[in-house]
Amino acid sequence: MPDTTISTLLGLKQKGEKIAMLTAYDATFAQAACQAGVDVLLVGDSLGMVLQGHDSTLPVSLADMAYHTAAVKRGNQGALLISDLPFMAYATLEQTFASAAALMQAGAHVVKLEGAAWLAEPIRQLAERGVPVCAHLGLTPQAVNVFGGYKVQGRGDAAARQLRADAIALEQAGAAMLLLECVPSELAAEISQSVKIPVIGIGAGPATDGQVLVLHDMLGLSLTGRSPKFVKNFMEGQPNIQAALAAYVQAVKAVSFPAEEHGFSA
Ligand code: KIV
Ligand code: NA
Repeated sequence: MPDTTISTLLGLKQKGEKIAMLTAYDATFAQAACQAGVDVLLVGDSLGMVLQGHDSTLPVSLADMAYHTAAVKRGNQGALLISDLPFMAYATLEQTFASAAALMQAGAHVVKLEGAAWLAEPIRQLAERGVPVCAHLGLTPQAVNVFGGYKVQGRGDAAARQLRADAIALEQAGAAMLLLECVPSELAAEISQSVKIPVIGIGAGPATDGQVLVLHDMLGLSLTGRSPKFVKNFMEGQPNIQAALAAYVQAVKAVSFPAEEHGFSA
């Protein structure tokens, strides 16, 4: 059992204390993030891009995710550990159970799935079998080829209504947490208020219950030389990586990150 659990996060939401989450892919950075005070570590399938050099998350395998989850587990010092189920590893219920089992047995406490209302059934069935789920909504990078690019989601009345309904449906199905990526700040604020479960944002404005960034992005590292609008380089003004990680946690807790310029309008 980690020191930080789903119940801890619910308590933070109720108190109005922001949740600081960061991706980690190895033991050393997992430990460094924990020492900086990070509440939640995410073994993201973003590793396909930042570690493996692919241009999307689609090539990441379940074996890759299990390998990095096991590494992060060894460096973890009390954070809640979430791992991504990779592309097409949860296309059928049977596959979903086997994939979730592999990541939980590698050391994950929670698995994250990308989707919308169709995730209700897998979420319900995983929860019944002892697997808490974080549902990733909005810009879901595994669907980049459906979206036709990495684009803001939930813009316009119809899309906003749909996203609100999806969030509520997934909470009712038993999701333990929600993650909103690249949605208008105002919509993310409404959704965070309308569900009881913790909502983590990335490119979703300051009003979600917590924030997450990709480790490499917040350390100012980029393979392409460009970084998304919602990223801040926390190495700026800091003497070393440990200080940058601590500055991130402090900025999330103080609600000084994200600033307005990091968010999207409706
Ligand atoms: O894979 C990842 O790092 C993620 C975050 C960007 C939320 O899913
Ligand atoms: Na991901």
